[in-house]
This record gives sequence, structure tokens and C-alpha cells, in this order.
Amino acid sequence: MYLGLDLGTSGLRGILVDEGGAVRAEAEAALVVSHPHPGWSEQDPAAWIGALEAVVAQLRAGAGSAFADLRGIGMSGHMHGATLVGQDGAPLRPCILWNDTRSHLEAAALDTDPAMRAVTGNIVFPGFTAPKLIWVAKHEPEVFAKVAKVLLPKDFLRLYLTGEMASEMSDAAGTAWLDVGARDWSDAALAAGGMRRDQMPSLVEGSAESGRLRGDLLASWGLSQPVVVAGGAADNAAAACGAGCLGEGSGFVSLGTSGVLMAGRDSFSPAPETAVHSFCHAVPGRWYQMGVILAATDSLNWLAKNLGQGAGALASALPDAAGAPGSAIYLPYLSGERTPHNDSAMRGAFVGLDVSMGPEALTRAVMEGVAFALRDNLEALRGAGARPGTLLAVGGGARSRYWLGAVANALDLPLALPKGSELGAAMGAARLAICAATGAAPEDVMTPPETSEIIAPDPAHRAAWEDGYARYRALYPALKAVL
Ligand code: XUL
Repeated sequence: MYLGLDLGTSGLRGILVDEGGAVRAEAEAALVVSHPHPGWSEQDPAAWIGALEAVVAQLRAGAGSAFADLRGIGMSGHMHGATLVGQDGAPLRPCILWNDTRSHLEAAALDTDPAMRAVTGNIVFPGFTAPKLIWVAKHEPEVFAKVAKVLLPKDFLRLYLTGEMASEMSDAAGTAWLDVGARDWSDAALAAGGMRRDQMPSLVEGSAESGRLRGDLLASWGLSQPVVVAGGAADNAAAACGAGCLGEGSGFVSLGTSGVLMAGRDSFSPAPETAVHSFCHAVPGRWYQMGVILAATDSLNWLAKNLGQGAGALASALPDAAGAPGSAIYLPYLSGERTPHNDSAMRGAFVGLDVSMGPEALTRAVMEGVAFALRDNLEALRGAGARPGTLLAVGGGARSRYWLGAVANALDLPLALPKGSELGAAMGAARLAICAATGAAPEDVMTPPETSEIIAPDPAHRAAWEDGYARYRALYPALKAVL
């Protein structure tokens, strides 16, 4: 048995799988985010441990005696969070999360240092870890003086499980302290951010062993055999492992709160000017690139809230086939945008409204606007050299046929729908545990799921979608001038 844990922003999910990857038990525990000031977003690391113990208790109850066969644990987690611990490993303050924007000025300043993009291969985005530490040094010097190690959120779970302060390449790549090509901390990037190498955890590959489950946990969880804890992965890399997206040509599109277009890469080919993220994959010798839009289902949820309806009801009022795009255009920049604009100040818009339009036309415009934003991401990925083919479609928004059709048409790429099998970040984490505990090759374990259907772009409407995309693209610079 192998345990895959996914530390998400709103909850910790765990699945217990057998060596063939079949799910034997699943469990979830909710987590809250606190926003003590505008733009701040924090979590208490102690709550992660409480959630982990609650999930393990549920899994033990659900799996019965099978839990005693546990051989490996893998973890996935939300990226970029700064969990600051002292010499004794205890947190010095709440974790500053990926979506906390308090250090946007520090990020912009750090990004002007030419060494940063050259070494890390990425823009220093406001959510990344390094600018958070510059903020702490400035505003909480007494905390900063005590920082013995900076751990990423899931690596704090590892400290609890194994006693080791370690990380792995895919999460370390999102700190702005890693030489992403060399897969090692960069002394130059650390110095630019006012940090030292001894404040960084040791690094392993995600599919390698990072430590063993502590003896007291073995006993309290009713286990008698050693349990290997794998390096694990950042949530997007773990999702890619779960979906079998490792190498060149593979990729997925995720319609979650944020939207992600991910492409597997066999080499490191950074292109920070495109605002794509170029990160280490969770398995040796591979990288991945992704475009991130900040409001995908978040856009639909926002519309639903304002129309006083459920998002599901709005989506189900649309036809199944996407046809040609409508005349109203929506720009999904409710919280600014990452790829391709790297613009935290930009805001969203509806353009081209007319008196005949109601909730249905607005819903359609929102879904199409998100689809066009993903096309912007595809162009950015192509600018970085990625050539994704058929994309696996995942995330809550993929339940809408209309939305899937719109994305396929806007990208002019086929989308594959997975056949109901579990393939999220928790599955990726469990697969990394299988590799670490058995020595199996990642390529043999991280296979793509069976697909139930392919949603192909509609050639009859290709010209209309190209025209719609050209109009969408023209709107960012035009609106930027007035917003
Ligand atoms: C990636 C990113 C998010 C977080 C939260 O750069 O910020 O995907 O990992 O899920």
C-alpha cells in the first residue's frame, strides 16, 4: 500500500493505493486560510499536521487491515509558501501562502537583478518564496533573525513524518532560489535574496527516498514495517505525474480556480520573457513548463455569485457544442494575470455587451474569455519551445461540455477526457511513493489514464475562433491604457 497526500489550499486529501495504482481508501480534511490584512494569505502549519492525522485516521478506518501493508508515502502541496522554522524545527510565524501578494514590490525589485531570470529561468513572480523573505527581513526582523530553515508547505509535513528537513526539485524550483537547470540551490540567487545555503533544506528528486517514517508514528499508526517517504512534488508536477504527463508533447489543461496549461519537457528551455513558468519535474532529467491564469472557474464563480445563481446552473443552461464564439468578450483578469502579462494591477472586463444579452450570454462570454486566455498561454508555451499535442482536460470546469468545446476550439487542439479514474495530485504523490519504495522507473509507473472521449476542435468554426482570438488579444493593450 502507498499513501498519496495532497496538501491543498482548502484541504488535505489522502488516498491509499495498491502497487497497481487502484484506490483502496480516500479521505479529506478541510483547512482554512486567514487574511489578516488585504492581500495577505496565511495558514497555520500546525493545522496541516492536524489535518494529516485526521486523514490518516479516516484512511485507517476505511482501509482496515490493508493499512498495515503501508510501504511508502508521497506528498504533494501548494507551491511557493514560506514556512519559517527555527533551530528546533518549530514554525516562527504562520506560513505565507502562494496567493499572498504583500511582497509584490520586493518581487519586482528582485526581478530587475539580471542574475535572477538567468539562474532561475523564471520571472520572480509576487507569489514566489524569495520576495517573501525579503519582506520578513524588512518588517519582522526579529523573526528573520531566527530563521534556521525555510520549508515549503508539504516539506513541513515531511519534517513531521521523518524528522528530516528536505525538499525536492519541483517545489524548490518555485522559490526563486534554485538553479533550475542545474537542479541545485544557487548561491547567486540566495545572495540576491539575502539568504544562505544553510537555511535551505537538502534536495532529493521527487521519485527518490527522502527519509523513513519516524518510529513513534509507526507505532501510533499500527505499522511494523519501515515506510519510505518519497521526495514528492509541487502540486502541478504531482498532477502531471498523476496524469502521466512526463515528456515532450504531453500536457494537460486544468480548469480549476486558476487555470493551468502544462507541457512536459525533456530539457530545460527557459523563456522568462513569455511569463511561462519553467520548473523541474518531479522525476530526474525532466522539466515542465506551464502557463497560469489566475481566474478560471473563479471567473464563473464570480459571475454566479453576482447573478445570484449556482455556477453549475449557469453552465448547464449552455448547449453542449461550442459553435462560433459570441460577440461579447470577457477578460478574466479579476485578480490581475500571470501568463502572459505578468500584471498584478490589470483587472477584468466585459466588452461588446448589448441590450439583448442575459445570464446565458454572459456565461458564454466568461467561458470563452477563459478559453482565449488559455490560448494566450499556449502561444507563450510555443514561444518557449513547447509543442503540446492532445491535452488531458482536468479540473472542475471540465464538467462543462460547452467549456471543453470552447477550449478545444480556442486552442485548436484536441482534449482527452480521462475515464473517471483518480489522477489528481494525490495520485501523482502516491505514484512517486511507489517509485521511491520499489525502485520502479517513473516512466513505467506514471502512465497516462484511459480516456473516455476526445473533444476535437471544430474545423467549421476555426476561422471564427481565430478571429475571436485576434479581437481578444487586441483588448489587453487597449484596456490597459485606461484601467
Ligand atoms: C503555481 C501556483 C499554484 C499553487 C497553488 O505556480 O502558484 O498552482 O501551487 O495550487
